[in-house]
Amino acid sequence: MSVTHSDAPEAPTTAPPKAGTPATEVTDGPATGGAGVPHVVGRVDDVPPGEGRAFVAGGTQVAVFRLRDGSLHATQAACPHSGGPLADGQTDAGVLVCPLHLYAFRWSDGACTSGAPPVRLYPVAEQDGALVVTV
Ligand code: FES
Repeated sequence: MSVTHSDAPEAPTTAPPKAGTPATEVTDGPATGGAGVPHVVGRVDDVPPGEGRAFVAGGTQVAVFRLRDGSLHATQAACPHSGGPLADGQTDAGVLVCPLHLYAFRWSDGACTSGAPPVRLYPVAEQDGALVVTV
């Protein structure tokens, strides 16, 4: 006598995005002014509220921050002043402060308030729990 198992859970029809794979659609995030390819770099939960983490998006090193208000920001990983690790910087709603020499960069436009070159900003969004950075 054969036994069939008909109450097994159905396999999901769509898998969640995986880190390192291009995302198919990004519906929010700051304007890029044109070109850019969205990449899933990890999960939003990989970045604790109020902190930053470093990721690679399509071969580009980026620093992603999740502010305590839930907003996301992404920059180049290395500080334009002298290469400091921006993911280790302190941030609030207005600025990101590099941990090496404490230069501050505005989230609004990337400009440095201390006279260094601006930091490059990247669009970042949450998509079904995945962290999507467009580079
Ligand atoms: S390396 Fe970032 S402020 Fe100097």
